[in-house]
Amino acid sequence: MDHFTYLNGVMHAEDVPLPRIADEVGTPVYVYSRATLERHARVFREALADVPDKLIAFAVKSNPNLAVLKVLGKQGMGADVVSVGEMRRALAAGIAPEMIVFSGVGKTAAEMIAALDAGIGQFNIESEEEGLELAEIAAAKGMTAQCTLRINPDVDAGTHDKISTGKADNKFGVPISEAGQIFGKLAGLPGVNLRGVAVHIGSQLADLAPLETAFTKLGALVAALRGAGHAITHVDLGGGLGVPYRVGEVLPEPAAYGAMVARVTRDWGVKLIFEPGRVIAGNAGVLLTRVVRVKRGINDPFVIVDAAMNDLARPALYGAYHHFEAVEPKGAQMTANIVGPICETGDTFAMGRECDALAAGDLAVFRTAGAYGATMASSYNSRGFVAEVLVDGGKFAVVADRIAAGAIMDAERVPEWLA
Ligand code: LLP
Repeated sequence: MDHFTYLNGVMHAEDVPLPRIADEVGTPVYVYSRATLERHARVFREALADVPDKLIAFAVKSNPNLAVLKVLGKQGMGADVVSVGEMRRALAAGIAPEMIVFSGVGKTAAEMIAALDAGIGQFNIESEEEGLELAEIAAAKGMTAQCTLRINPDVDAGTHDKISTGKADNKFGVPISEAGQIFGKLAGLPGVNLRGVAVHIGSQLADLAPLETAFTKLGALVAALRGAGHAITHVDLGGGLGVPYRVGEVLPEPAAYGAMVARVTRDWGVKLIFEPGRVIAGNAGVLLTRVVRVKRGINDPFVIVDAAMNDLARPALYGAYHHFEAVEPKGAQMTANIVGPICETGDTFAMGRECDALAAGDLAVFRTAGAYGATMASSYNSRGFVAEVLVDGGKFAVVADRIAAGAIMDAERVPEWLA
């Protein structure tokens, strides 16, 4: 459930009519709803009520906006980060360092040092090589890094290939078949306290079964590690829960996920860490755009909007579906190709889409754009970076300025020897 609904024929974000935001901030613009973010945080937390000891660490990569992190931090969430840039955002939003976990296959030495200095709660080590390096760096500083070892459970998450992370040939984690041996090697090193294991098999999962398979494999591994004398106190179950993008699409509810987790992990006796991203932020945001013009096509007309693949990359990158609708629907429908202004055919949001009838100047939204939306933007075609707005009841604020193409150009130099 979200708070983007029609009132008197006009789509509102909570109590704010979207045309007001378009007039004051311009388009394209991402619009987030605080009430929706808070609702999703609460629903996820309540779904895990039967898990006694836990940390819910929001996957910052899904929406790193400072104001969004502030809202979620106030809800008691920690942060899952994959770069020092994300870590600094989480800290700047007031999230306590001990509630930050650091994932990712390519942590640099400089990032490890910065994270140790910040006192983050946990490193999820993704390889033996990384573990050796972190141990050396931490030991040299006279510190002990709190760590889990990320396991690649070789489970097919059944999602898009580009966002699947738990198959044997994906780059993430260590093979489950070698986990015991690698764990043994790293656990003995000064500089690290290897206290558990982590897993994340992919994103936008439409089925709980692959998650349950992965968690069950992890449970067996925990038992084996304990059998080998290791103290296992923490297990990180990652994120991945999918959200509905299409009207009427049914995905597993957080409550069903929570019940499965509680059942599978009942006897583990560990603190569980969760890293939800999309399920918290996805439906808490829309991309508000204006129709530039409608162009005749061979078959269907092209509705050319002022948002493009540089603002919302998911359709171009993954063939992803984002529901598209008018802000002030007139009742009529049309079949159209929804495209942006960028000069490549990939800049297509939808072909042959049945949608509200639209004309030049009309406003429309792409829904479910709160996760992996603004954060994946680029300035391709020198279009600048899109603005972001947070709505709270009847008020709203610009929480990220539009970065004009000119400001990006200002950061470039022509060397003297070229002048
Ligand atoms: N934890 C780890 C280690 C991850 O790699 C991810 C996402 C998450 C948590 C959060 O997963 P979520 O709960 O949001 O599914 N750009 C793609 C999604 C990439 C996901 C990458 N990792 C998209 O737009 O669909």
